[in-house]
Amino acid sequence: KNLSMLGVPLDLGQNRRGVDMGPSAIRYAGVLERLQALGYQVQDHGDLTVPKRYDQDIGEDLQHLQAVVETNRRLAKKMDEMMSADAFPLVFGGDHSISIGTLAGISQHYQNLGVIWYDAHGDLNTAETSPSGNIHGMPLAVSLGRGHDSLTEIAGGLPAIKPENVVIIGARALDAAEKTLIQESGLKVFTMHEVDRLGMSEVMTQTNAYLSHCDGIHLSLDLDGLDPIDAPGVGTPVVGGLTYRESHLAMEMLAETTDITSCEFVEVNPILDEKNKTAEAAVALIGSLFGEKIK
Ligand code: ARG
Ligand code: MN
Ligand code: MN
Ligand code: MN
Repeated sequence: KNLSMLGVPLDLGQNRRGVDMGPSAIRYAGVLERLQALGYQVQDHGDLTVPKRYDQDIGEDLQHLQAVVETNRRLAKKMDEMMSADAFPLVFGGDHSISIGTLAGISQHYQNLGVIWYDAHGDLNTAETSPSGNIHGMPLAVSLGRGHDSLTEIAGGLPAIKPENVVIIGARALDAAEKTLIQESGLKVFTMHEVDRLGMSEVMTQTNAYLSHCDGIHLSLDLDGLDPIDAPGVGTPVVGGLTYRESHLAMEMLAETTDITSCEFVEVNPILDEKNKTAEAAVALIGSLFGEKIK
């Protein structure tokens, strides 16, 4: 299998500087060597060129809208090229607003793209409901066709994904309007409550069954889905999260039973991290996702 790696050093979808260094941190943690050791052919496409802060974005209620739009337009095009070249896209953030571009580019190659959103948050806000104005709190809503026109248009007019093809895992910080949207659109959510009651093994078994009709499955893994003890280097940490062990089990079960067709690892912020612990966790999880076993 051919893998295509791409970094997206964007930090303008939120307001803590440093998440633009996430791709470097993940590379320094040895992702390339790890995948090559598993026998993959890996092509590193380097980092996407990301614009600087734009003057015209200042004072807008959506923070850095034009810079985020431009990045995601470029990213969608790049994803489309990787898909057309029959490579498996592996993307490193950058903040979670880059999902707008990855999903826009990938989704047009599927009828029913499934999405596993591994995150403490729903990222289901719109400009109207956002408590922060930060676009990294909006990518799942945008991909479902809700939000500012210049964001939803990146997918070419139609929503990139359908609500019945989404599973959120690890949620524990949902804003009021996000809860309403989950109710209205019937999104499947395994909050921390469900993870605790069912156990991660059952959560992954149900996730696999729920998405079995999909012709592709994208994993969007926000490192803040993990507990801050295991992944301290994130901009919006939330206590009470998924452990390193649960997350490994999740990745191993995906490797065994679920045909993941693309993935992204986002929100690694080395400035906030402890000796690259969060990037190292990301790389360890990538190892498991791509078939690494203990014995
Ligand atoms: N719900 C909050 C907001 O809209 C936090 C979003 C955090 N998102 C993330 N990708 N880390 O601002
Ligand atoms: Mn295409
Ligand atoms: Mn999050
Ligand atoms: Mn997120």
